[in-house]
Amino acid sequence: MNFSAIDPARLPQLLCAMPKAELHLHIEGSLEPELMFELARRNHIELPHADVAAVRQAYAFTNLQSFLDIYYAGASVLLHAQDFYDLAWAYFQRAAADHVVHCEIFFDPQTHTQRGVSMHTVVTGLHRACQDARAQLGIDAQLIMCFLRHLSQADAFETLAQAMPYLDKMVGVGLDSSEVGHPPEKFAQVFAKARQLGLRCVAHAGEEGPPAYMWSALDDLHAERIDHGVQATQDAALMQRLAKARVPLTVCPLSNIKLCVFSDLATHNLPALLDAGLCASVHSDDPAYFGGYINDNLLQTFEALPLNAGHAHQLARNSFEASFVPDAQKQIWLAQLDACFVQFGA
Ligand code: ADE
Ligand code: ZN
Repeated sequence: MNFSAIDPARLPQLLCAMPKAELHLHIEGSLEPELMFELARRNHIELPHADVAAVRQAYAFTNLQSFLDIYYAGASVLLHAQDFYDLAWAYFQRAAADHVVHCEIFFDPQTHTQRGVSMHTVVTGLHRACQDARAQLGIDAQLIMCFLRHLSQADAFETLAQAMPYLDKMVGVGLDSSEVGHPPEKFAQVFAKARQLGLRCVAHAGEEGPPAYMWSALDDLHAERIDHGVQATQDAALMQRLAKARVPLTVCPLSNIKLCVFSDLATHNLPALLDAGLCASVHSDDPAYFGGYINDNLLQTFEALPLNAGHAHQLARNSFEASFVPDAQKQIWLAQLDACFVQFGA
């Protein structure tokens, strides 16, 4: 494929049109303030902010924890299966508009079970939205259940036990929340149990935490994919391992700027990750809080950095390679990706 034949002026259009997989999206982080207020009204919950504009104004974060405090408070409007359905359905409609053909969506059950909302309520609402996404939007959607790393491993085990009746509705487990001070090895046994149950394993690591946390995610949790992982560039041996084993990194540039991991997009290390041959791809993390969904992330990142059509193809290709679907399905999406690039002149 001749990427240099593509008119650079059409790159933004191509980024939007190319088929892609969303692999790093916290469904609670897609709760837009408008829906937050609608659910608050429906569920008779009082919010600390007067209106949507005031909520958006409060979204000025200094680090991961300053965001998480607000993010967990926002999720308090979610009570019933229908609320979880509405949240996920709103996301899927946006994903379809961004030409997302496959998503693996994170959810945080402990955020809800701690408030007395059952695992059943959470999973049935989200799962029904996944089924409708396939039937009505043609999006292949899967769920990944995340353990909150600021809580104990015993709590994670209890969460896994609660999820046992619903394991057929999730493809894997993940690890998220406050990273520093909560290294992956804290959850080695519960991840081992999840693996035994046939669940795929991913983990947030190297977002704010050091490269040592990425080594631990690989060696102690046997994570097949690392979420964020941008701190890897500090460790040459880790970079070599990630490149050689093609361990995917799900990178979220707008999140990294909003949480002050990088000062601006122009200094983001995505080009360095790609140039080192890593299987990096671009995703949205918590788009309602960070100002953009997957296409916004791609558009703004390409605007700020020296990235071209070849990089666009690589990122979309990596997103499919990194996904937990059978190879035959990956080949179908890769053929669609190539067809899209041919349409743009490659
Ligand atoms: N939960 C939601 N977004 C997160 C992030 N960026 N890092 C860790 N945990 C999260
Ligand atoms: Zn995340």
